[in-house]
Amino acid sequence: MDWHERRVAARRRAVGKYDAAEAEAYGKRQGLGWLTAEEESAYLTDLGRVVRIASGASVLDVGAGTGVMCSILRRLPGIELTALEPSTAMLAILQAQSELANVRAINGFCDEPQDQDRFAAARFDAIVSRQVVNGLFDPLLAFRHWHHWLKPAGIVVVIDGLYGRDGWAGRWEEEVDALPLSASQSMASTPYLLEACGFRIEAVERMATVNALPTTRTPRYVVIARKTTR
Ligand SMILES: C[S@@+](CC[C@H](N)C(=O)[O-])C[C@H]1O[C@@H](n2cnc3c(N)ncnc32)[C@H](O)[C@@H]1O
Repeated sequence: MDWHERRVAARRRAVGKYDAAEAEAYGKRQGLGWLTAEEESAYLTDLGRVVRIASGASVLDVGAGTGVMCSILRRLPGIELTALEPSTAMLAILQAQSELANVRAINGFCDEPQDQDRFAAARFDAIVSRQVVNGLFDPLLAFRHWHHWLKPAGIVVVIDGLYGRDGWAGRWEEEVDALPLSASQSMASTPYLLEACGFRIEAVERMATVNALPTTRTPRYVVIARKTTR
């Protein structure tokens, strides 16, 4: 198989690894699949420096997993939350949480060609993702879809980690050379691609409060990007 054939064969493979056992293990890992109230506050502190999500905003959590970002965002007043998650096992853990009962949960991907019509154009005020961009199979197509789903001047909030190759161990190791942003130890790659997809970058910075938590092993950073109309 040449590079292109190997890449096509890898579509959906990584997400397929979030089966029931993996989802349960992820959901039990503090700092990853669940956060303490103090850890949630740390995220809000770092986000509060760079972005304001207004009351009444319609927010999409892409790759919502076990619901960590939804749990953080529901602490903001009046947010209408939608969770998009391709792993049914991850989504089941999110949906089992009574405090997330108001979240509209949708099972699916964000970066496949047919996903453009998953939501109406200009449906959301904000699209957030935490620890998802490094695992996207097609980041450029994902960012184009996010642009399409956002209202004019809507914002993207990407939280990710400065992951290296060594973080992809065991059965995840084969994904490191299939996923374009898997081991991007630079904070430049994501804003560069977002800008190419029609976003204006408003902030790129390390999450100082989150990175000071004992449960944060790999430094986290945040990118804020606003939709411009082309
Ligand atoms: C490391 S988990 C992060 C989950 C959650 N955002 C969090 O902060 O804990 C990555 C999640 O992204 C999801 N994901 C991977 N590829 C995706 C895609 N193409 N579209 C939407 N979600 C995706 C996975 O199924 C998984 O639940």
